[in-house]
Amino acid sequence: MQQNRRDFLKGAFWMGAAAVAAHGMADAVRVAGTGKMTTYHDKPIRNLRVGVVGLGRGQAGISGFTLVPGGYIAAICDINAARRNRTLKYLADKKAPTPKVYGDKGPEDWKRMCEDPEVDLIYNSTPWQLHVPIALYAMEHGKHVVTEVPSAFTVEECWKLVETSERTQRHCMQLENCCYGETEMLAYNLVHLGLLGEISHGEGAYLHDLRTANYDKWDEDAGGGGYWDYWRLRHNVVHGGNQYPTHGLGPICMDMDINRGDRFDYLVSVDSKQFGFEEVGKGLHADDPWRSGLKVKMGDMNTSIIKTVLGRTIMVQHNVGTAHPYSRLNLIQGTRGVLQDYPLRIAIEESLGKGAHGFDEKKTQEIRQKYKHPLWKTRDEIAKRMPVTGHGGMDFLMVLRLSYCLQNGLPLDMNVYDLASWCCLCELTEKSADNRGRSMDIPDFTRGAWKTAPKLGLVDVDLAKMNFPA
Ligand SMILES: NC(=O)c1ccc[n+]([C@@H]2O[C@H](COP(=O)([O-])OP(=O)(O)OC[C@H]3O[C@@H](n4cnc5c(N)ncnc54)[C@H](O)[C@@H]3O)[C@@H](O)[C@H]2O)c1
Repeated sequence: MQQNRRDFLKGAFWMGAAAVAAHGMADAVRVAGTGKMTTYHDKPIRNLRVGVVGLGRGQAGISGFTLVPGGYIAAICDINAARRNRTLKYLADKKAPTPKVYGDKGPEDWKRMCEDPEVDLIYNSTPWQLHVPIALYAMEHGKHVVTEVPSAFTVEECWKLVETSERTQRHCMQLENCCYGETEMLAYNLVHLGLLGEISHGEGAYLHDLRTANYDKWDEDAGGGGYWDYWRLRHNVVHGGNQYPTHGLGPICMDMDINRGDRFDYLVSVDSKQFGFEEVGKGLHADDPWRSGLKVKMGDMNTSIIKTVLGRTIMVQHNVGTAHPYSRLNLIQGTRGVLQDYPLRIAIEESLGKGAHGFDEKKTQEIRQKYKHPLWKTRDEIAKRMPVTGHGGMDFLMVLRLSYCLQNGLPLDMNVYDLASWCCLCELTEKSADNRGRSMDIPDFTRGAWKTAPKLGLVDVDLAKMNFPA
């Protein structure tokens, strides 16, 4: 697929150059883009003004930004009046500045917030279908934008985000909080210290029983918005493949330095049959003709395997339709050892060839403490001064690092190429699964920049620069 596009773009270059006058700059820059957001950083934004759209999960971001010094919630937007009021009360209780309020003028009122010159960053936590339109509009209006997962669903949407980010020189990051999980960052640390040897394989997943969530309930005060499960089920009814790949995949990509020395090459994907949603629909919703008669395309379990150009493999699974305890798998395998999660188990051989023949709980806990990621040590310091929660602390750390990077003019931990290469799986896994697991090329959204892009390193924040209360 990327080959076709590249060929098209090469062919289009000369025509595009000639047509610039007639069609504006967009096409010319589209051709010229060359992965330049890999190291992009803006000037420091010392007083970060954040506009949040979507006040369900968006409230987690608001909690984080309210704790982090050097910025504040400057604007909020939601079509749901009850949710706007809840956030206003939350901010008032925290004695935070009162934000401007958008959303009361209808479902496109987020545009006014994106146009607001007193907002630097749009934090997009809306239902899936709004992720790309809001991100594009925000960048076109000079804003950096961060978007909840998945930030896009098709290859074309991914290219649009990449090209717009490159042309406007605005950050476009995906809010993949799981990359900041304690276990995920421990794994990153072990891998980058070389303790697991050469990394050849990883596994990640989103295994979360969502069969009985409030799919058919509208929020009383929504005024048009609904519980997320409702729009999610509607999406899953018509899509197969893996429509929520990033929680499990993102951390493995960080371990393997994907887009920073390696990149995805191709994938294969298969869906199991669908039983779970239909069983619950018939069994628990007999009085609801829509639910009880529901035909859901999404299989109970999707399993996809990615091959990277350096020859590694990544297995990603998605299952929201059966009884299963929550798990992201989090398995990273190297020549000298393995880390796997749910529960956390680590085995590292002591000398070459000696092998690792069993998991030892005591050793696992020793390694966990000894190799805790620096950012998690910093989090422990902050936790002595204030409660930092949200999915065990990873939500806070994501907002902390994001704020720190923007305030200090640093590149972000996850850039638009990461967003695109992780999110394009939504379309590519579905196409593969629809075609007996046919192999699908994965585009190189960096257009070669992955070969020279610097590695992320052991990211942290310097608390001395952040003015946290003592
Ligand atoms: N990273 C995580 O751990 C995590 C957890 C939960 C949800 N999510 C993601 O967060 C996103 C939002 O999920 P949610 O659970 O908050 O959904 P939700 O439906 O509860 O909240 C979405 C909010 O957006 C509002 N909204 C809808 N249309 C709007 C419009 N046109 N203008 C302004 N506001 C509008 C709704 O009124 C609602 O308050 C999704 O992408 C989801 O996948 C991520």
